Amino acid sequence: MKVLFATPEAAPLVKTGGLGDVSGALPAALRREGIDVRLLMPGFPSVLAYAAGRSEVVAELDLPPFPRATLLATTMPDGVPLYVLACDPLFDRPGGPYLQPAGGDWPDNDIRFALLSRAAATLSHETSPLEWRPDVLHCNDWQTGLAPTYLDVLGGVRARTVLTIHNLAYQGLCPPEVLPRLGLPWDVYRMDGVEYHGHVSFLKGGLQMADRITTVSPGYAREIQHEPLGFGLQGLLSWRARDLVGILNGIDTTIWDPANDPLIPRRYRADTLPRKDDNRAALREYFALDATPKVPVVGIVSRLVPQKGFDLLLGCADEAMALGMQLAVLGSGDVATETAFRARESRYPGSVGVRTGFDERLSHLVEAGADLFLMPSRFEPCGLNQMYSQRYGTPVVARATGGLADSIVDATPETVAAGTGTGFMFADATPEALLAALERAVAAFADRRAWRRIQRAGMARDFSWDAAARTYAALYDSVVTSG
Ligand code: ADP
Ligand code: GLC
Repeated sequence: MKVLFATPEAAPLVKTGGLGDVSGALPAALRREGIDVRLLMPGFPSVLAYAAGRSEVVAELDLPPFPRATLLATTMPDGVPLYVLACDPLFDRPGGPYLQPAGGDWPDNDIRFALLSRAAATLSHETSPLEWRPDVLHCNDWQTGLAPTYLDVLGGVRARTVLTIHNLAYQGLCPPEVLPRLGLPWDVYRMDGVEYHGHVSFLKGGLQMADRITTVSPGYAREIQHEPLGFGLQGLLSWRARDLVGILNGIDTTIWDPANDPLIPRRYRADTLPRKDDNRAALREYFALDATPKVPVVGIVSRLVPQKGFDLLLGCADEAMALGMQLAVLGSGDVATETAFRARESRYPGSVGVRTGFDERLSHLVEAGADLFLMPSRFEPCGLNQMYSQRYGTPVVARATGGLADSIVDATPETVAAGTGTGFMFADATPEALLAALERAVAAFADRRAWRRIQRAGMARDFSWDAAARTYAALYDSVVTSG
């Protein structure tokens, strides 16, 4: 089984969020299942720097109206084969993969990611310049969502397609006038094609054309078939329900392992949990929090965007602080949310610490040093930090949605006694409901024996990629044999 895994980001080379983590870990797990999976990723500056001196040119891609591109072959640090789509005018720029240095989307993101989709289609088609031809093209999110449309237009002998939705809120919309610049004929602009309320939607085209659709948790697969989490695509998704499956992400258990994490001051296991206290001390120092014993530190590591629900926390911040807790926030994103957290930091010096920016090392310290981890998401396709947190013995306070509901067991007296409760869930997206969950968590923290049980229950869970990789492997088999 040969699979081309097309993605805009893959850790450790490029990462803006969970898709980077997934693309950095799932392909290696698939290779362990015996699948010849290879990555395709744009030649962003960090990727070109990595590839320099350890890659070879394997093809020139002349795909008008796009600028000429070069395909480089190399391997990821963990050995997974990687094709780099080098097209300097489109990808070799400062700033992020999607954002300009000063913030705001690159104005030509449609062209940039149409080229990624177009290249993925070419490599999966009988006209590919490569000898290696995949049986399945696995696309991820809107950035590769046009590939099934290009394959449909190309016709002929081509790979089967799987499209994974990591986040339906981002759909890749552009005005229809752009179509000629994407090298697409007008007739794809139809209701059962890329047309979406007067726009071209990269993602919708993919959802129409892909042979199979997956998303990153079973819960989210159900939620997106209805309002409001279908973001306008619920009708299409429920129409395609037979081809839609939710597969819970795993985590890279070599990178996220408290017993073996080079990025934290003190390593620990379930049977050496008191050592975790040293990480809390380091965390407090880093965030300038008072060394107040007995008060739990609540950690946050997140993109600061409406999806993540921090307005719920800001809506009950005074009451939450009155419960007796400290807050350590690492995040970046909306300026208004950053500013609101900063205001709480000034109001509660020594009890609230905020660090903005993207900091991989610090994210490990928060996971290891915090007593509780907070994810009040309004929606969460999967979420990875709740799995990291459980593995680090850091119980999670989370809203019961999507992948959070699928991966955390609410700690009730029964589940704690049974040794299965791992976190504190709330249902309603209100500050009151969040506050009630925080109150339960702070109370549980004060009960040492119950607390250790909750920590150990989380640490004992298997969040490795093995199960998901087997499910994807079976899906590839079924899509190839059904075709
Ligand atoms: P999403 O993809 O929606 O942002 P996930 O929970 O799937 O959410 O994944 C987020 C990933 O990005 C995690 O690995 C998390 O640790 C990381 N992350 C988010 N914000 C930051 C930050 N400011 N600094 C470091 N890592 C971050
Ligand atoms: C998206 C989602 C997140 C998920 C990640 C990886 O960014 O917001 O919930 O974990 O993709 O699939």
